[in-house]
Amino acid sequence: MTQAQTPSAPNPPTRGLEGIVAGDTSKSRVDGAQGKLFYCGYPIEPLAEEGTFEECVYLLWNNELPTAAQLEAFKGDLLSDAAVPDAIWDVLRPLAPHQTLMDLLRTGMSALSAFDPDVAATRESSEGRDVLERRIAMRVQARIGTIVTGAYRLKQGKAPIAPTKGQSLASQFLTMLTGEVPGAGEERIFDAALTLHADHGFNASTFAARVTAATEADIYGAVTSAIGTLTGRLHGGANMRVMFMLQEIGEVDKAAAFVDDILGRPKGRVMGFGHRVYKVEDPRATVLRRMAKVLTDETGHTKWFEMSRVIEDRVKETKGIFPNVDFYSASVYGSLELDPELFTPIFAVSRASGWLAHVMEQHADNRLIRPRANYVGAPERAYVGLSDR
Ligand code: CMC
Repeated sequence: MTQAQTPSAPNPPTRGLEGIVAGDTSKSRVDGAQGKLFYCGYPIEPLAEEGTFEECVYLLWNNELPTAAQLEAFKGDLLSDAAVPDAIWDVLRPLAPHQTLMDLLRTGMSALSAFDPDVAATRESSEGRDVLERRIAMRVQARIGTIVTGAYRLKQGKAPIAPTKGQSLASQFLTMLTGEVPGAGEERIFDAALTLHADHGFNASTFAARVTAATEADIYGAVTSAIGTLTGRLHGGANMRVMFMLQEIGEVDKAAAFVDDILGRPKGRVMGFGHRVYKVEDPRATVLRRMAKVLTDETGHTKWFEMSRVIEDRVKETKGIFPNVDFYSASVYGSLELDPELFTPIFAVSRASGWLAHVMEQHADNRLIRPRANYVGAPERAYVGLSDR
């Protein structure tokens, strides 16, 4: 029997690739046992609470923090490159009433490649690709928030708001959403949330981006794959479902019974809990819980936070599992009065920085990612012609 005819792969498969190390990265390190996350060696807490999202993007793309001058230049380039061609809105406008915001983002990102002067050359040769890809990455990161906010407004029957340079990607995003410049506190919290979601090892969407990039496909192909992957409810799609759950529960005193009901069902899942890698609390949830508490105390809208605490205690007691990044990001975004439909696209705006870092890293030392499958179907059999079936 030749290798190609072997009925199954030589080793039994690991379901969901759990525990498999699929490659090297210098971008982030997830310590699942200790509940720690580092970007290029730096713990995420000070990056989120003292740094800015632009600093974090620079770090992920360069493996080093910027100096003040480097940051100023990098930020200036990102903020001034956010406009998208009107043709993007012409593509998205007729789709807007029928599709989710994540669908529109996926289509908008794919369409954006038509207007990128550098992309074609990156498909044919790896020579000089690093320079072109750096330019493309800047455009993608600069424009992804414009697509999200513009598509959101199209869904509401409103015209997209053109980006103004603004102070930060966070304030530019919130301004394009409503037309109003956010207050400093709101901008700060949103900025920190972006940093917390930026990268996370070989999470599903980043891995999808790397698999696509490893075929020597271009950045838009990789980012579009990643957006499709982030959408699912087991990944980035969980955060908006956390808010839907809080809305459905409605009152703090109903939260425990609601959780008991879900956990009493076969395969019942409480959104925003559990994680493939963390066996203790997700460190991003710790920071977001702190932020949610401050925000809800400030606004006086304490309901989401109180309800979340009850849910957290109940899930921990019953299943021994902890909240992940999506659980308290829902209370944070909810307290900022953002529509739940925006939650997963906001995750995409942030995680794009990680996707882009990983695509460039993959291309810098590329090899096709192509695992084997364990075949469990019918054994070899003779073909029967249509008339004899
Ligand atoms: N609710 C109830 N039980 C859960 C949950 C949950 N959210 N998550 C895991 N479990 C239980 C599961 O039932 C199983 O228990 P048992 O062995 O008794 O059947 C055990 O924990 C292990 O679960 P698993 O499905 O084997 O874990 P996994 O590593 O395959 O899945 C996960 C990880 C994140 C998909 C899963 O925890 C989940 O579905 N969570 C809810 C969705 C969610 O919050 N996703 C966001 C993930 S983190 C950020 C991101 O990527 O966006």
